[in-house]
Amino acid sequence: MINHKHPEIRTHLVIVTGPDSPIRDRNEEFISLVLSTGSVISGITYINVRTYNRNTLIGKGKIDELKKTISEEAFDLLVFSHDLIASQERNLEKILCCPVIDRTRLILDIFAKRAQSAAGKLQVELAQLNHLSTRLVRGWTHLERQKGGIGLRGPGEKQLETDRRLLGIRIKTIKARLKKIEVQRAVNRKSRMKSAKTVALVGYTNAGKSTLFNAITSSETYVADQMFATLDPLFRPLKSVNKKQVIVSDTVGFIRDLPETLIQAFLSTLEELSSADLILHVLDVSDQNIYENKHSVEEMLKKINAHNVPVINVCNKIDLVRSKSEIFSIDDAVQVSAQSGAGLDELTKYVTKKLEPLKTIRKIRLDLDQSRVRSEIYELSSVIEETVNDDNQIEILCEIDDVSYERLKKNEKIEAIQSKMANH
Ligand code: GTP
Repeated sequence: MINHKHPEIRTHLVIVTGPDSPIRDRNEEFISLVLSTGSVISGITYINVRTYNRNTLIGKGKIDELKKTISEEAFDLLVFSHDLIASQERNLEKILCCPVIDRTRLILDIFAKRAQSAAGKLQVELAQLNHLSTRLVRGWTHLERQKGGIGLRGPGEKQLETDRRLLGIRIKTIKARLKKIEVQRAVNRKSRMKSAKTVALVGYTNAGKSTLFNAITSSETYVADQMFATLDPLFRPLKSVNKKQVIVSDTVGFIRDLPETLIQAFLSTLEELSSADLILHVLDVSDQNIYENKHSVEEMLKKINAHNVPVINVCNKIDLVRSKSEIFSIDDAVQVSAQSGAGLDELTKYVTKKLEPLKTIRKIRLDLDQSRVRSEIYELSSVIEETVNDDNQIEILCEIDDVSYERLKKNEKIEAIQSKMANH
């Protein structure tokens, strides 16, 4: 369907593989990234290089071949699967006589399209401006005015026509606004942490985070203030747990080699993860790149200092694998299908258990007339056994967390005659 307001951008993709390319090619992922911008792909050229050219990424021979291919095609934009430095991008545009963008710019534009909240938009704009600041000298503004789409739209390109000084002022203004938003977020976070445990969902893009988020939370109670949406974390209470005791947050999806400008811009949003009590790492078991994706996400968690937060690996989409042996062996994992609901009860139970304070098995001795404390023990702990000893005293063997035990001790004279850590 032709959108007359924003005619579709026709892209020609240049998929470059070289010495630093991942073992398994990521072409499908790159193609779906491009498609997710709403543009149409008019052609794809695959280029294999042994060494990268400093000025143009690909060598002269390959450029000539590419020039010939695209001369027979109607398209608006060349999208390189490999990152380009500013001078490479400029040189390629000059030689090929068309606008060129790279994977980083593509991802920035996807984020620009998805940003909905004020904070999200500002964060993306900041990333775009930082990226564009090295690429101000370009001559494709006529296209920017005509069409909307990747490489040609978004909050950033107004700035292409302005000079560096104005760009600097805009960056400063955005940073100041984001600072204010950050202060407000910190206040919100503090109050959330006081009243509830927080569980953060993370995952490689398309792993099923949003589907799982909707399946395990109660959508009727929207906890966070409305400012948080899409690219900002969403907060909702976990289903089947005492209301508002556990709050789940959904954050921005990860992707391999997320552009550094974007990480910097989203740092404050991502850092929310490091204050979570538990992280649910959603993995797509039907994806052949599951281990690489897992690794990419774990690297990102390290970068934002969230690697010390306990993690449950949620192996999602088990409905898509035919036999158990096809399911990858991953530690500390729960297998689910966010779509069919399989395994979600187990996941919720596991989350609740992981969030419980550490328990100790204690044998508590009481006098026979301490009936009030006896019933309190039954309320606060899991009683394993109750006996009466030769001195007519009650001995209760129970599993109790330290906070509850200290509370009991404060109000009543009791004696723990044995204790050992409970096994979890
Ligand atoms: P990003 O927004 O890119 O971060 O993606 P996401 O991780 O939030 O994934 P999302 O929930 O949007 O799901 C991606 C796709 O996987 C959608 O088409 C879902 O319908 C599908 N999906 C999610 N969970 C399951 C599942 O358990 N089984 C199957 N078969 N498909 C699923």
